[in-house]
Amino acid sequence: MKISVIGTGYVGLVTGTCLAETGNEVVCVDIDENKVQKMRNGEVPIYEPHLDVLFERNIKAGRLKFSTSLSEGLEHGEIIFLALPTPDDGDGAADLSFVLGVSEQIGKIIKDYKVIVDKSTVPVGTAEKVQAVIAKNAICDFDVVSNPEFLREGFAVDDFLKPERIVIGSSSEKATELMKKLYKPFVRSGNPIIIMDEKSAELTKYAANSFLAAKITFMNEIANYCEKVGADVDKVRIGMGTDSRIGKRFLFPGIGYGGSCFPKDVKALYNSGKESDYNFAMLDAVIKVNQKQKTALIPKIKAYFDNDLQNKTFAIWGLAFKPETDDIREAPSLYIIDELLNNGAKIKAFDPEAMENVSNKYGDKISFSKTMYDAITNVDALIICTEWSIFRTPDFEKIRKNLKSQVIFDGRNLYDIQDMEKEQLDYISIGRSNAFKS
Ligand code: UDX
Repeated sequence: MKISVIGTGYVGLVTGTCLAETGNEVVCVDIDENKVQKMRNGEVPIYEPHLDVLFERNIKAGRLKFSTSLSEGLEHGEIIFLALPTPDDGDGAADLSFVLGVSEQIGKIIKDYKVIVDKSTVPVGTAEKVQAVIAKNAICDFDVVSNPEFLREGFAVDDFLKPERIVIGSSSEKATELMKKLYKPFVRSGNPIIIMDEKSAELTKYAANSFLAAKITFMNEIANYCEKVGADVDKVRIGMGTDSRIGKRFLFPGIGYGGSCFPKDVKALYNSGKESDYNFAMLDAVIKVNQKQKTALIPKIKAYFDNDLQNKTFAIWGLAFKPETDDIREAPSLYIIDELLNNGAKIKAFDPEAMENVSNKYGDKISFSKTMYDAITNVDALIICTEWSIFRTPDFEKIRKNLKSQVIFDGRNLYDIQDMEKEQLDYISIGRSNAFKS
């Protein structure tokens, strides 16, 4: 099939590349000329495991092309994916100006039937708005469908190629059939394509992300409470998670959720609620608890150093909001860095992928190390912000020899308490306490 994808951000790029992989002819459109030129030369503008291989293969095969021309994209595709940004508008609501701006153009340009697919995460009622904006100028038939994406960063290619479900919001049989045909190769395993109305599809995405954010947040509160009463959140987590109604996943406590989706989507759903005179009291609490959780290590660090962080140097392992990505949007590490700097501390950071992004933000306010062990030389203590696999089995002897104070502050609960006691390191994590004191 002939497909166009408007917007080559994270979602657009993964969507376009994976659709080319099943033999579709895909044109990806972006207004950024520099980026388009680079992509034409085979350069993947984001870090996402496996994407580079698929990218190169499909460009070589001539199935994946790039353009800066919206008209070219609209002429090519029978199905047009809108994968445009919907940033926070400053008041916590989704800014639809990109989606509606492009929709306006689409209305003026298209000459024959198109299915316009909303892939961006958009508030309930957006498909209706897109439909109306296109209809103002359109001289031909078209349909608008909502098809939210559920990709996780770091696993996006796998998630796209083997989705647990595809959600399609459509009220046109013709559009539904085309979408089913497009997605058929991805659901061979028997996973469902779920068809519903547009509004329900739009809400499904917000509800799923907000639920997961709430699940994590609930566990973070249990972890904080464990610390007060001397319980071990790891044991509680396992005890709870084996109940199949609860499930084991997304129960890991830590220093809060971050990234480009959860924080934005929870806020957007909360604000959409307000617009419809509905108060999502639970989401309000999730937002507040998560914000506080991001700096949950700070009072512990301060307490350990008797409230004096002036000129102390901290190694930070992990800057990305989660492993397998270079994305630092809403990363807890940034909040921790700000707090440490405000308290007069110095920072030596290491992350396998995200150092460039953090360096663009902080310049020389913090220093970066080539390896995780370079980062711990001549520092007072180690702080772990992201659970990259490489940090899971470190050389504890090296850590002991390097740290001036024998302490690790772990925001991701990477190590067993008993192991850390054997290593004779003070180990301060989330929702657990160790008995050893150096
Ligand atoms: C999420 C959704 O999973 C995906 O379906 C949606 O399309 C986009 O948003 P992503 O942001 O890539 O994906 O990351 P995810 O792996 O879901 O993690 C989100 C955040 O929750 C991270 O900050 C992670 O560290 C945190 N998290 C996750 C926890 O703190 N504990 C957990 O148990 C799981």
